Amino acid sequence: MQVIKADERHIDGIAKVCTDGYWATYGDSYPKEYIQRIVKEFYNADRILNEVTTSNKHWGGYFVAVENGKVLGAGGGGMIGKAAGEIFVLYLDPDRRNEGIGTKILDALTTQQKEFGADEQWVSVGKGNQKGIPFYESRDFIFKYEKQSYGNIEGENFVSLRYYRPI
Ligand SMILES: CC(C)(COP(=O)(O)OP(=O)(O)OC[C@H]1O[C@@H](n2cnc3c(N)ncnc32)[C@H](O)[C@@H]1OP(=O)(O)O)[C@@H](O)C(=O)NCCC(=O)NCCS
Repeated sequence: MQVIKADERHIDGIAKVCTDGYWATYGDSYPKEYIQRIVKEFYNADRILNEVTTSNKHWGGYFVAVENGKVLGAGGGGMIGKAAGEIFVLYLDPDRRNEGIGTKILDALTTQQKEFGADEQWVSVGKGNQKGIPFYESRDFIFKYEKQSYGNIEGENFVSLRYYRPI
């Protein structure tokens, strides 16, 4: 398994791990319609094509964990302030959690963000996400505050937790 910068070859694999990962993570706690809307907005092939061919400080492109050509995990991030990076997305094949793959992707994103000048790193995690929160806490992220989740439409009140660590 190696972690590399993604390109066009990885589009379908990224869409699959992010979609499967999102359902596995939030399928029991969020309504089906909400998940379908988010997955359709973020993990469609057109958007991912754009995201693997764009790389700048604000979006550093996707990094993928690949084994025998198969995408096992994907993550991406960028800068949200002069010295602040953020993990915008990080998902694995749900059958390949807890093998160290997420840590390797997080490390690649962290190295990139340090090169962009980050000395702190942020992430948003859905409140109650027990597949994500213990991972970030084990990597020294600290809970900072709650906010309304991105993607809420009128009448929805899903909550995200903002976590932070110095890097
Ligand atoms: C979060 C995620 C990317 C982490 O990747 P991963 O490959 O499973 O994680 P790793 O194997 O690298 O590391 C797991 C670490 O988390 C810790 N951990 C995991 N579950 C834990 C739990 N229930 N309690 C305490 N610690 C836990 C382990 O201690 C482990 O650290 P260690 O290697 O020092 O023992 C992956 O689990 C995932 O896709 N989760 C669902 C999607 C998600 O929530 N993504 C984040 C949304 S932003």
